[in-house]
Amino acid sequence: MGKVLLSLHVLAAIVFIGPVTVAVSVFPRYARATSDHSVEVVALLHRISRVYAVLGLSVPVLGIALAAHLGVLGDAWVVASLVLTIAAALVLAVVILPAQDRLMGPPAEPSAVATRLATASRLSTASGLFSLLWAVVVVLMVVRPGSTTGV
Ligand code: HEM
Repeated sequence: MGKVLLSLHVLAAIVFIGPVTVAVSVFPRYARATSDHSVEVVALLHRISRVYAVLGLSVPVLGIALAAHLGVLGDAWVVASLVLTIAAALVLAVVILPAQDRLMGPPAEPSAVATRLATASRLSTASGLFSLLWAVVVVLMVVRPGSTTGV
């Protein structure tokens, strides 16, 4: 059971968190561009970000089930991962997805271009933070500091 949960947890992290991380980090570059093609790309990246964000919820759900199964739910590294996962989810839901929403479609008028560029650059920062949070969580998952089970 533990092996099945671990496999599903890692598979979900690769298949769902991977694409949302890439989509979120590439989005600002295309949002700054002005071609018709970039409008389509932006729409697709937004869709990937939204859909995979929802699918990605399976990662912490499986992670919590796995931690409960292994009896490590109260361990510091698990609690830290949980907190960082919640922080990443909030950055995505509260900052990134709404900002992406505002950048959908071509700029309405030339005066809106400066606002658009400012939003795109805030979005770049938020997406960097989002990727960094995942990187820290993955290191915690692999290193499991303080864990006495496994190596
Ligand atoms: C609520 C958040 C999470 C919890 C409670 C959790 C829990 C766990 C547990 C209990 C394990 C098994 C460790 C062991 O074999 O002793 C594990 C492994 C793993 N988790 Fe998570 N996880 C969470 C989020 C994540 C996220 C967001 C990612 C990726 C972005 C991730 C990636 C991994 C990976 C790659 C492993 C395999 C590590 C290894 O076996 O070396 N986890 N997780």
